[in-house]
Amino acid sequence: MKVVVIGGSGLIGAKVVKQLRDGRHEVVAASPSSGVNTLTGEGLSAALAGAQVVVDVANSPSFEDQAVLNFFETSGRNLLAAEKAAGVRHHVALSVVGTDRLLSSGYFRAKLAQENLINASDIPHTIVRATQFFEFVGVVAHSAADGNTLRLPPALMQPIVSDDVQRRWPKLPWRRH
Ligand SMILES: NC(=O)c1ccc[n+]([C@@H]2O[C@H](COP(=O)([O-])OP(=O)(O)OC[C@H]3O[C@@H](n4cnc5c(N)ncnc54)[C@H](OP(=O)(O)O)[C@@H]3O)[C@@H](O)[C@H]2O)c1
Repeated sequence: MKVVVIGGSGLIGAKVVKQLRDGRHEVVAASPSSGVNTLTGEGLSAALAGAQVVVDVANSPSFEDQAVLNFFETSGRNLLAAEKAAGVRHHVALSVVGTDRLLSSGYFRAKLAQENLINASDIPHTIVRATQFFEFVGVVAHSAADGNTLRLPPALMQPIVSDDVQRRWPKLPWRRH
């Protein structure tokens, strides 16, 4: 089965690519560094030709509110349209636990916009929601830093190491959700 992993060079993407290759699927790791850009459409139709499944684990280079919203909306629209044209049979995307309950955050508004585009499409799909990766905890802490002062909310969090996300990744063929 041909599977295209959008964001296949990223933290979780590289692990998903390896797992799928170990499962003897034909896997294309697609991202700007390999000439595939979901914002501009560059290289997209060629990468998707003959693909049955697309896994979207791309992320926005900027987490600024408007930039991240533009990223997930534009990327989502371009990708789903290209998948439809290519006859892709299943779309899988990685999202975040609690996305629909954290809408004071621009990042989560953007992730919800991505989920809504997927749910509105007629391509069978699976949205996998994970908690924050352990590898991301430093970034979260840094974003709350004010000089040498670190203020953290009393909220509990339950991060997951990305290896465990990849191990729990749904096995092909994916069920329709
Ligand atoms: N990090 C977390 O804690 C966490 C938790 C749950 C869910 N998620 C979700 O998991 C996904 C991946 O996160 P990550 O932390 O693994 O990301 P990451 O390491 O930052 O990797 C981002 C990937 O997106 C690609 N990309 C950037 N711009 C692109 C474009 N215009 N077209 C196509 N690909 C593009 C990058 O390609 P290049 O390398 O070529 O630039 C890279 O492969 C995101 O959707 C995120 O919301 C993350």
